[in-house]
Amino acid sequence: MTKKILVLPGDGIGPEIVAEAVKVINRLQSDSGLDVELEEGLVGGCAYDAKGHPLPDETLQQAKEADAILLGAVGGTQWESLDIAVRPEKGLLGLRAGLELFSNLRPAILYPQLASASTLKAEVVSGLDIMIVRELTGGIYFGQPRGVRTLDNGERQGFNTLVYSESEIRRIARSAFDIAMKRDKRVCSVDKANVLECTELWREVMIEVAKDYPEIELSHMYVDNAAMQLVRAPKQFDVMVTTNMFGDILSDCAAMLTGSIGMLPSASLDVNGKGMYEPIHGSAPDIAGQGVANPLATILSVSMMLRYSLGEAALADRIDGAVNKVLDDGLRTADIFTEGLKKVSTCEMGEAVIAAI
Ligand code: IPM
Ligand code: MG
Repeated sequence: MTKKILVLPGDGIGPEIVAEAVKVINRLQSDSGLDVELEEGLVGGCAYDAKGHPLPDETLQQAKEADAILLGAVGGTQWESLDIAVRPEKGLLGLRAGLELFSNLRPAILYPQLASASTLKAEVVSGLDIMIVRELTGGIYFGQPRGVRTLDNGERQGFNTLVYSESEIRRIARSAFDIAMKRDKRVCSVDKANVLECTELWREVMIEVAKDYPEIELSHMYVDNAAMQLVRAPKQFDVMVTTNMFGDILSDCAAMLTGSIGMLPSASLDVNGKGMYEPIHGSAPDIAGQGVANPLATILSVSMMLRYSLGEAALADRIDGAVNKVLDDGLRTADIFTEGLKKVSTCEMGEAVIAAI
């Protein structure tokens, strides 16, 4: 049966990088019989400009009807002064919440060809292959109450709530353990159980769920130490599982180990494996429209989509192989360029991947 993919280019460099990823999908449709139908929608700042809301009802509806979603990026300086309720980022958060995409997979893989692009020594990062599993629909990002109130003495006070129910912790634990079972079977749960009751419960539930996974080696780490260990000795990790906000922070940190945030895809999955796929980087307004952005994270997001939502692992392997090939050939966008290699544009990189497929 034909699967439906909703394409949401978004803002900034989003449209440029998504265009290359769509070309990759089109190539697989025409030469490998990939049976998908593409539809486009609006999310983020562009949706606010066109419809008055970063996540228009019709976009959420389209997303619900799709089998998978490919998203570019949202946000930009021109929308920063808007009320927080209608900022572009709310479009993304609304999709995550509206589709219950609670499990966010953020692989940090170092391509050997890019070892010299990392700010860390090659021996510290070579062979790096970490999977960060970030809880995505709970925690302080969504907890109530939240807001800014005025106290009796006239002073304003801002507040947010970190909250996790056992069921939320249990399902993200299972998600992480299931993934670890297909890898090195080691899971490090990151919390702040020495200070925050909420993550004390997180730790307890992790330990409880781990009993169903006797082969998994579960360890625990406080988030401050985890940040330090990620830059000190990142190869000690296999799967890391953590809360929404800790995962936001640690995944950027892990991304930089690999040389460029422009290389890393992500998947956000619901309980049935339906997912939204996006590069983990943002909309990079400073380079938007110049044709210099790296489309590889978005192209690799298509690979994750084929693997996790569309049951097309062989086609995913072909994309991964093609990305390796273009890196072997010395092709580099500006973010991963080093002297002596071939600097290419967004579009040239996309074309090269398609040729390698
Ligand atoms: C991410 C981003 C988002 C987040 C923003 C854009 C809302 O930083 O996907 O990591 O904080 O989750
Ligand atoms: Mg982030």
